[in-house]
This record gives sequence, C-alpha cells and structure tokens, in this order.
Amino acid sequence: MYRYRLENTWSPEPAPYGTLKVTLWNLSDEVLSDFRLAYTSLTRAMRPFAVEGAELELRDANYHRFAPPAGLEIAPGESWTFEVTNLNRDPRHRTDGAKSGILTLTASGTPTHVDVEVSDLFPEGRDLPEPGPLLPEGKLDEPYAVLPWPIALDLQPGDTPLALCPAPGSDAAALAAFSQVEALHRRLYPEARAVFSMLPMPGTRPVAIARGGDFGTGGYAIEVAETITVKAADDDGIRHGLIVLGQMLHGAVVDDAFRFPASGTITDAPRYSWRGSHLDVSRQFWNATDVSRFLDILAWHRMNIFHWHLTDDEGWRLEIKAYPQLTQAGATRGPDEPLTPQLGNGAKPVHGFYTQEEIRAVVAHAAALGITVVPEVDIPGHSTAALTVIDGLADPQEAPHSYHSIQGYANNALNPAREETYDFLANVFDEMVDLFPGEYLHIGGDEVADGSWLNSHYARLLMEKEGLKGTFELQSHFMRRVAKMLAERGKKLAGWNEVAHGGGVDPEGTLLMAWERPEVGIELARQGYDVVMTPGQAYYLDMVQADEWLEPGAGWAGTSTPVNSYTYEAEGDFPEELRPRMKGIQSCIWCEHFTSRAYFNRLVFPRLCGVAEAAWTPKDRKDLYRYAAIVKLHPVF
Ligand code: ACM
Repeated sequence: MYRYRLENTWSPEPAPYGTLKVTLWNLSDEVLSDFRLAYTSLTRAMRPFAVEGAELELRDANYHRFAPPAGLEIAPGESWTFEVTNLNRDPRHRTDGAKSGILTLTASGTPTHVDVEVSDLFPEGRDLPEPGPLLPEGKLDEPYAVLPWPIALDLQPGDTPLALCPAPGSDAAALAAFSQVEALHRRLYPEARAVFSMLPMPGTRPVAIARGGDFGTGGYAIEVAETITVKAADDDGIRHGLIVLGQMLHGAVVDDAFRFPASGTITDAPRYSWRGSHLDVSRQFWNATDVSRFLDILAWHRMNIFHWHLTDDEGWRLEIKAYPQLTQAGATRGPDEPLTPQLGNGAKPVHGFYTQEEIRAVVAHAAALGITVVPEVDIPGHSTAALTVIDGLADPQEAPHSYHSIQGYANNALNPAREETYDFLANVFDEMVDLFPGEYLHIGGDEVADGSWLNSHYARLLMEKEGLKGTFELQSHFMRRVAKMLAERGKKLAGWNEVAHGGGVDPEGTLLMAWERPEVGIELARQGYDVVMTPGQAYYLDMVQADEWLEPGAGWAGTSTPVNSYTYEAEGDFPEELRPRMKGIQSCIWCEHFTSRAYFNRLVFPRLCGVAEAAWTPKDRKDLYRYAAIVKLHPVF
C-alpha cells in the first residue's frame, strides 16, 4: 500500500516552458514531518533553480530532491504543493512528468526511504482529445501472413496442414534447421500448436531443403508443390525460408483471414544487409533472458543486427573483469548510492549487469539466429557511470558543473587528455574483443556537450600541443586514438553521426549511424563513411505515436506514427552514386521511458515490425494496409 501520492500538473506560464505544480498527499494515518521528497522526471528544473514553496537541494539529471519549508507538517488526508519553473522544455505528453517518487523520512536518525505513487502529468485547464487509431484497418490482397513481405510471391491458397515435416531423406542439417525454427516459434508463441513436426502424420506436408543455387546472402526461394522445397545458398536463407513457411502456417491456424498455399512460389532476398535494432539496457535494465527474447523477435522478422547499448550515464551493464566496480556501484542506482535514482526508480536500489558468461550465451544465441551483435560502450560522453567508479578518467581540477549534457548530467565525458582514459579503454576493449566476434565495436560518440573539457587544464595543454580548437577537435583527437586502438585489436569503429565532428576519423572502414536528420546520413556518405540510417523522427521507438497529450512516449524528436515508421524511406534523397555507402536501417529503442514491459510493448510494437519490413522489402512492395492486417499476429516482448 502506498501511503503517499504525488500528483503533478503543468501550466504554460511563464514563457517559455511554464510551471510544473507538484502536490504530495499524505494518505497515511500519521502526520508527515521531517522529510525530503524526490521525484524523477524528464521535465527538469534548470539552473538557476526557480522553485516556489520548497527548496531544490539536488538535481542530478532527472532526479530532483526537494526540502519542504522548515517545520512543515502534513496531516493525514492533507497535501502540500510547490511549483517549479525554469524548466528544460515544455512537456507535451502525459508521460513527461514525474515517473517515480521517493519520500525520505528523517525524524528518527537514520533516514528511511519510502515509495511515493505518482500520477500522469496533466496540463491545467485544457481539453484533452482522445488519440485516434494508430494504424488504419488492415486489408489483404493476398491471404498470407508473411512479414516482412517478399520480393515476389505467386501462390494459390490451399488447406491448412496439420504441420510441416521434413521430407524423406532430409539430412541432419535440414532436421536441425527445422527443429531450430520450431523452437523459435514455440518460444514466441508458447500457446500455439507446432508448425514444424519431425514426424510425418496424416495432414502434415513434407518440406525439402535444397542447398545451393544463385542466391545472395539471406536470399531464398520456396516452391510449393506436393513436396514444398526451400532453396537457399546459405544457412540464413534456409532459416528465412523456414520462418516464412512457419509464419504462413501459424497465420492460417490462428486467424481465418489467412491461408496456407497449395502451390506456387516465393522468391525473396533482403533489401539491405543491415537490418538492425538497437536496445538501451542502461536506462532500464533488461536481463539476459529478456535480451534473448528480443533476439527471437528480431529473428522472426529476419533482422540480422542487434546493437546492444551496454553503457550510458545511468549504468554500466557489461562485466569487465579488470574493473569489478563498473558493474557493482556502476550498475546500481538508489537514493543512497553513488548513482542517483533515475526515471522510474523508487526507494529500493536497482541493479543489473551481464556477466561475461551471459554475454557469451547471448552472442551465441544471436549467432544461431543469424544475428550479429554490435556492442556499444558509449564514450567519451554519456559516461557518468564509469566516471563515478573509476578514478583518473576526468581532470580532478575541473570545476563541478563545468558543462552539462543534454540529458542534464554534469561533466560526463571521459577526459581525452588523460592517459588513464586510454589505459582504461585498452583494458575494456581487450575484454570486449574476446566476447564479441563481430567486425564492429560501437563506441558511441554522441552528444558530447559543446564546451566539454574546456575548463580542464590537461585538455588545454593538449589543445596547445596539438593545435586543437574547441571541444570537437578534442573529440576527434580522442576518436582517432580510439579507432587506432580498435584497429590494433582487429575491429572496425562504428559510432553515432557525431563521430564525424571536429575532423572525425578516417572514414575507411568506419560505419556511422545517422540519427539526427536524414541529410546527415547523405553528408556522411559523401565524406566516405559507411552509413546506417536511424532517423529519430521515424525509427526511435520511444517517441510518441501521436500528437495528443494522452499518448505516452517521448516527444523530443517529434511524433513518429506507426504509419510513418512503416512508410518512411530512409534512402529518400540519397544520390545514386552514394547508395552503396548506405548499408541499411535500424530502429533504436531508448529506454528512459520504459518503466514497465507493458509500456515498452505499447510503443515498440508494431513499429519494430514496420522497421523490419522497411529493412527487407523494396519500396514498391510495401503496403501499409497489408502490414496493418498481418502485424496483429506478431509477438511482443
Ligand atoms: C542519440 O540519440 N543520442 C544517438
């Protein structure tokens, strides 16, 4: 039972960003006195703090801790209200206010922390229209539950078989492929009947696997006759063909809008070689079992890249044996911990990381499903967790609050002028190359605040020595050293588009993710970088899906409707000669908002499935209405 409740409202005065009004209700049967109140909120109080009716004692990113006026007592059933102005931006959705509250009771010597229930954020005195449907009504021209849709499909509908079974004479590799796809289907739909069975029975249809032929990576063909034949030149293609058969049968079994084919052909190949999704496990932690399920979902959509955002200001999730503190204090947030509570966190500390054994298991699970893991340690910015637990990565003489990241963290970038920084990274990379066999290691590089390091004596000396001007030339100096360290370890550098700032790195072999604006991707390709398009406006799946206040989600990159995520063409204005540099697309799942799995599912789906189809299916084969009809069948996280 919560004994305390926080309600918050917002009003637009004063300009530009208005006032957050916060009310704490005492629902206990005792007078409340001698306390502090904290909440976590993406709508933040900025310096200089401007608070009426309370004192803001501490604000660390989204964590705000207030002291009430001296001697304040709140009787049972009574409330206390204070107002916060000088906000970072105007809230636009019900999820922009407090995401958790913590009351700290100080009367009895040792402070104790208690959870406070919080409400949605409401704007004062405004009518709030209901959001409409997020997707149009589905419509099928072809009754087959295939998503992503193939390049070519010419099928005649038939009866629904009991299951699909290996054709007589199938070899061990074919049997293993069947079993793997059935296991995947079973994990995603544990309640559904099997789509593949090893045993021929009355009503099963035999499937033969023919390896060889002229298929590109991941391409396949299916010939549906008395015996169904899946043809492909590689394991990915065979798995893709079997998944498509499994999808068609599953659809026909669970929904009579769909049929299984009696005859005909599918010929198919992926549009892009990079069909990815990113997952942020720092802001909210998803354990190894969760991550494996996420990989299953990617595989069901024939996606092949998992970009694992393993570190950020809010927590370091990757075990590095040389630095156990990274995944102890560096992976723990709480009211009395070195890392403060962040969005959604309450009185109890939260903690989570992956052991190296778990990482190996996840990487192996991904590999078996044809998915390459691209691990990210986000440096030099976004590094509060590492800076908090490892000495020497910052300039000790740099004044506190010399600069702030866009997320409100102070002095959160590894210092590029400290040899300790590179020693630390060398140890981290040494362990990472052992864990992650893929060709890329993603080093972040995003959102280093302009002005970072300029109050650091060491950084100033480095700038003088190397003739560097400003934060971004320092960043480029750092990135070049990091790229060299990766090359020495046999890895290529992947990063966010800001890696190119201040002179960037050698584009040869470097892959950058264009997230800020689509034109950024074109410019990077022009400079010679390989590019993956991850525009926030379409592929950031934490963004709200409609403009209405009542719709949940983040609003800073705008609204990204499921229709937009599906129809968006990332190639857009890419000039023909630069197209080969564009390797593909990926969705990004930043998790600040996702304080529950239900909320995650509400935003990530169906848009993840839309990105998957945009990554696989050529533009002229996309069909929003078909997609809307089929996507209802797809599993959630
Ligand atoms: C990013 O959204 N900071 C890559």
